[in-house]
Amino acid sequence: MKYDFDKIVSREGTDSEKFDLRNEIFGRSDVIPMWVADMDFTPPAEVIDAVQRRAAHPIYGYTCRSKAFNQSIIGWVQRRGGWTLRPEWLEFTPGVVPGIVTAIRAFTQEGDGVVIQPPVYHPFARQIRYNNRTLINNPLRQRKDGSFEIDFEDLDEKLAQAKAFLMCNPHNPSGRVFTEQELRRIGELCEKHDVVILSDEIHGDLVYKPHRHLHIAALDPRFAKRTVTFIAPSKTFNIAGFATAVCIVPDEELHRKLHREFMKFHIDEGNIFGSVALPVAYNHGDEWLEQLLCYLDGNISYVMDFLKEKLPSVRCVRPEGTYLMWLDFRRWPLTHDEIYHFMIDRAGIGVNEGSMFGEEGRGWMRLNIATQRSVVRRAMDQLYGAALEAGYDKII
Ligand SMILES: Cc1ncc(COP(=O)(O)O)c(C=O)c1O
Repeated sequence: MKYDFDKIVSREGTDSEKFDLRNEIFGRSDVIPMWVADMDFTPPAEVIDAVQRRAAHPIYGYTCRSKAFNQSIIGWVQRRGGWTLRPEWLEFTPGVVPGIVTAIRAFTQEGDGVVIQPPVYHPFARQIRYNNRTLINNPLRQRKDGSFEIDFEDLDEKLAQAKAFLMCNPHNPSGRVFTEQELRRIGELCEKHDVVILSDEIHGDLVYKPHRHLHIAALDPRFAKRTVTFIAPSKTFNIAGFATAVCIVPDEELHRKLHREFMKFHIDEGNIFGSVALPVAYNHGDEWLEQLLCYLDGNISYVMDFLKEKLPSVRCVRPEGTYLMWLDFRRWPLTHDEIYHFMIDRAGIGVNEGSMFGEEGRGWMRLNIATQRSVVRRAMDQLYGAALEAGYDKII
């Protein structure tokens, strides 16, 4: 391995949400932070160099995005996903969530229905509500083996009442990467009900073999016409702090509407460092990403094996994508709140409690494993030690 993902780089005192808000969120500052979805790894060296070079120039005035910015996005999506984009399809957004909100405002009216698939990334529901749209849930369903699937009959019914479908693929927190067959069924149902697809694909680069991330918009020109796809280098290269993301809108009319809504807020400026980092990451990050995926896959295997061997009562289906593991504690004789506090107070691990992703997440905790293997090991040892003390290791 050319890159050293084992090396610990202290993030304390850098105003890192994940590290420096621990006391505020968990009531103690010594929990192992495995919550906020960013990584404890440094980005590719080329990105660090480019940002440092720009920072060395001491004037930080208004910035513009070069042609190379869009070209790098086109190159990346072509190489990684085999989808040929045109420059005029691209729209800058200072983050995927602001892009989603802008799209909801552009394509729906107050009171209109927007479908989501809980348990799902919590700002989806919140932003739909903040914008006075009607939240419609199409919960993912668990198969017998514990893995998640889409309830298509319910989706058909729910889309009939909606103007937009806000999907998350790869799905956070379940780790599902939707198959071509699933995406085609989604696309057909959205066609049937004339619903706009807002496809959050921020985790799309973080997919483990043999699974493959597919862009729903690339599967059929009819789907492309009704889809806004959101991608970003933020999760992939651990540069979320640069607030730089991309909307892909092949349909001219949809793009015009989205652009107009963005203009209302005058937020297309972007920031200097995001404008520098994105093209470098997308042009030079392939090898780094391949090695990162191997490392993350190893962390996932470590947790899967550990749970199977030592704590079989904590169920987890191996994620197909993302660096998030969705742990099912429902066999434990504790309430949801008690499990959460057990994790913090007894295991010393800061996780996201599952109900923040929807009521379906009660009894579940989300664990972010994008950290050094030694940290993952320590977290598992702490969890096991606490479970042993409480006698939960005996539960099957
Ligand atoms: C599914 C999903 N969408 C969006 C985001 C955040 O995107 P941004 O920071 O670009 O708004 C996250 C972060 O965890 C996420 O998991």
